[in-house]
Amino acid sequence: MSSHPPTNDNAMAVRQRAEGLLRRMTPAEKVGQLTQYFYFGSVSDQESPDGSGPLPQPDVIEAALRRGEVGSLLFVTDPAETNRLQRIAMEETRLRIPLLFGFDVIHGYRTVFPVPIGMAASWDMQLIERVQSIAAREARAVGIHWVFAPMVDIARDPRWGRMIEGAGEDPYLGAAVAVAQVRGFQGDAVGQKERLISGPKHFAGYGASLGGRDYDEVNLSDYELWNVHFPPFEAAIKAGCGNVMSAYMDLNGVPATGNNWLFSQVLRKTWGFDGFVVSDANAVRDLVTHGFARDLSNAAVRALNAGVDMEMAIADPAFESLPSALESGQFSENDLNASVLRVLEAKVRMGLFENPYVDQSRAEEVLGDTRHRTESRIAAERSEVLLRNEQELLPLNVHEWSSIAVIGPLADSKRDTVGPWVFDFNQDETITVLDGLREKAGDRVTISYAPGIRRAHRAFPSMFDMFPGNIPDQQPDFDDDVEFQRAVKLAADADVAVIVLGEWQNMIGENASRSSLELPGRQLDLLKAVVGTGTPVVMLLMNGRPLDLRWASDHVGAILDIWYPGSMGGHAVANLLFGDVSPGGKLPFTWPRSVGHIPMIYSHTTSQQPEKQAHRYWDEESTPLYPFGHGLIYAGFEYSRLSLDRSSIRAGESLRVSVDVKNTGYREADEVAQLYIHQRYGASSRPVRELKGFQRISLSAGEVRTLGFTLGPDELRYWNAASKVWTIDATTFDVWVGGDSTALLSTSFEVADS
Ligand code: NOJ
Repeated sequence: MSSHPPTNDNAMAVRQRAEGLLRRMTPAEKVGQLTQYFYFGSVSDQESPDGSGPLPQPDVIEAALRRGEVGSLLFVTDPAETNRLQRIAMEETRLRIPLLFGFDVIHGYRTVFPVPIGMAASWDMQLIERVQSIAAREARAVGIHWVFAPMVDIARDPRWGRMIEGAGEDPYLGAAVAVAQVRGFQGDAVGQKERLISGPKHFAGYGASLGGRDYDEVNLSDYELWNVHFPPFEAAIKAGCGNVMSAYMDLNGVPATGNNWLFSQVLRKTWGFDGFVVSDANAVRDLVTHGFARDLSNAAVRALNAGVDMEMAIADPAFESLPSALESGQFSENDLNASVLRVLEAKVRMGLFENPYVDQSRAEEVLGDTRHRTESRIAAERSEVLLRNEQELLPLNVHEWSSIAVIGPLADSKRDTVGPWVFDFNQDETITVLDGLREKAGDRVTISYAPGIRRAHRAFPSMFDMFPGNIPDQQPDFDDDVEFQRAVKLAADADVAVIVLGEWQNMIGENASRSSLELPGRQLDLLKAVVGTGTPVVMLLMNGRPLDLRWASDHVGAILDIWYPGSMGGHAVANLLFGDVSPGGKLPFTWPRSVGHIPMIYSHTTSQQPEKQAHRYWDEESTPLYPFGHGLIYAGFEYSRLSLDRSSIRAGESLRVSVDVKNTGYREADEVAQLYIHQRYGASSRPVRELKGFQRISLSAGEVRTLGFTLGPDELRYWNAASKVWTIDATTFDVWVGGDSTALLSTSFEVADS
């Protein structure tokens, strides 16, 4: 028996093995392979997280498993339990087909990394790949085979809570981050050691839900789909991802999960995807809710016919009715077989027939690997974005100052430090901002702490409240006035105040959209009172979307966006505040001034009265608070000598751009050099700027480096809504390179017809 999974070179052998099994399967067993259940074990006496009813009982699922009618389970993370269930599949079913265990490993498993929007803010693709390879290693060690990640939905409306799970507003950055994540999770192909099947989601357009309300309908033109929302998916598929997840909402009037055009035309035909498609949880049943399918049986047939291979079912799969629908000729057995083969092939490639079990004795060793924690600290340091730093308040002047007041309940909350979408992290080893500052300060600096305000609550419970540790403490003994005054007094008496504000982790993520971007509860009052003491104030923001910082951005000395920084977040923050590390992250989205600005993107087109761009509203400037790509450093960078190797090319050709970047500061620092282009005229009006290249570099004080970028067909083409084809116009392009999307240093070149 081979201990190595088959690789890509023996695709034929994989196919033959899957076909051999398929020939022996009954329709019910085939459909079983296409069925995935939530398996919550001990918490399954509760209601389902989406409110659709009670969760299925373990014995019901196990009975189905014994009949050979379960292909995959999600949410099983205890290796002993994984092995017990796998043993049922391997020893008690007729065909002995192993189970595939899937899970949401979004930004780490035991070691938690910054939330995805934070990792995107690092603009460091090697880091992202490394981080997700660690997440894969840990998850694989407990028996997980498949991760429902990355989320590659472009998000341009911060009211949508799931913005935190993606890479922000830009398709170019989004595509690069998607590739880095797929490579990290999966390696070069499905079936590598210590890696998982990666399933980008949610195909497609979910980020554009109406009003930012989670799950609401999406209406996107072809132009936006091809130019903005599809590129990260296409890039993930080119990177070899083995799975794709469908989206919940209606896309232009057809539910994404029943949308044949999306799966058959775009995913399979245009991009050549050969992995398997899973529905989002209960999304097949939802085809009835949408008013699209007549009943559950019709929903199952239409999802399968659209190109969904596997149903993710919280309970009572709609796919259960497929065997009888097959009998009555409602779909072709060939289509069913094609789906089953895709799932079986994934299992063969993962080596599960040879090695179905996880080595329980090894799990703790992998989960305890201290190198993973170091990587988590580095990821947090590299993802944090310095939004404001008046009079170089940061790094803290720890040589002269001897006391720091740490304020705000988020400063000392382990659960919030790791952010949403984590289930198996270790509370005890999570380092909060307060922990990190205390450890760093040692005996040199006194750290005092007061929460100041109580935790604000959601108006409605969160669907994640069912998981242990997620229900926020109601703090019945908290005396609001006394605590508020105590915090203000601490700040007044300290040399500097560090205040940690933002959204609690259950206020962002799935099912966590908001109609406002204000700091929740009494946070702004507390901030104003602390600033009012006259003590210099550093504000740390915990968030996964832009919040309303209009007051803060005028009155607070320094603002550092720390996202939800993960297991080692407090150490990272301490290193940045004390100046051991220089911040280098940059915003992956445009920061609006207020909720009324939404949606606001840097890559808009121009039109009538462009000189009045800042006055599109009469009551507030219509420029962003912070532009896309913004992020300050403890140094300064100068860009010069922007040049091109050719001033004119033909459509289809490439040219090289080069630029000198100099660190003009007094210390080593990182910079993310960003290249933007603009097409002056052509068959469509094109955005005023579009990101088409970036590099994160480290330069020592005074160092100059020449950077090179390529601009070719991939960067210059766009999908033309009039002719419905990819187009490169004969035109003039402007090029800018600099530290954010308002970079001034520019040049231009011509493109002639090919
Ligand atoms: C629903 C979410 O939309 C999806 O992203 C997630 O992977 C599944 N639930 C499974 O938890």
